[in-house]
Amino acid sequence: MPAKARFLFAAMIAVVLPWALPSAARAADPPAGIKSVLQTCVACHGSKGISPMVGSPSLAGQPNIFTQYQLVFMRDGGRKPGVMSAVVKTLTDDHIRELGAYYESLAPPPPAKTGPAVEEAKAMALIKPRHCDNCHKEDFSGQGETARLAGQRADYLVKSMKDFRGAERRGRGLGAMMEVSATLKDEDIQTIAAYLARKP
Ligand code: HEC
Ligand code: HEC
Repeated sequence: MPAKARFLFAAMIAVVLPWALPSAARAADPPAGIKSVLQTCVACHGSKGISPMVGSPSLAGQPNIFTQYQLVFMRDGGRKPGVMSAVVKTLTDDHIRELGAYYESLAPPPPAKTGPAVEEAKAMALIKPRHCDNCHKEDFSGQGETARLAGQRADYLVKSMKDFRGAERRGRGLGAMMEVSATLKDEDIQTIAAYLARKP
């Protein structure tokens, strides 16, 4: 990694790590501090963090730290913010900390009922050799900086895996996602995404 990028990463980690505290108890109402920013998020990510929109990921049930990292990356330049470029600039560190805890507290998305049904053995033949479940957990619920994948929108899973494969997105995990996706063909990515989207 070039020195400048290394510095940027170190700076980001310094911002996020002090927040690595146990998240608040499962909350129903968003905390007052983020009520107004959430009004923007719901349009694309859904009122309960379950996305109604193609291309836009569900956030409910994502590990607190994962969400915080992604927001810091999008705000500070480690990840392309795309349609979020305007809104993410307005977020303070406090907002980001509360958003991470809030989305973790929401019930994760239910398994998809549409899209192709993939045999477990076929998906596992791609997943097991790449140890996806070691980092994302056996039930794909995610942990720490590692995303929840179970029940995520298939279209978004496809997009994000292609972004890693094409080095459009680097993220935490120090290149692990670029490495594991490098050998995936388009149809493998479709298979994995369809399987994970239907995973409870
Ligand atoms: C105009 C639609 C839109 C709005 C408004 C919006 N987002 Fe997003 N968000 C997206 C899209 C699309 C992506 C996926 C970007 C990509 O493909 O890399 C995304 C990605 C994310 C991610 C990364 C999740 C992951 O699994 O990688 C987080 C976290 C997030 N948004 C949080 C928020 C929050 C918090 C707000 C409100 C402050 C917000 N977004 C507002 C559309 C939106
Ligand atoms: C060494 C640990 C590790 C392994 C192995 C791994 N991942 Fe990941 N994965 C991560 C981390 C960390 C992230 C978050 C990266 C970031 O900060 O953007 C991630 C992100 C993702 C995302 C993006 C999710 C989102 O909401 O943005 C997808 C999809 C994904 N991984 C799928 C897989 C699949 C499929 C495999 C196996 C082929 C795999 N991962 C193997 C650590 C791993």
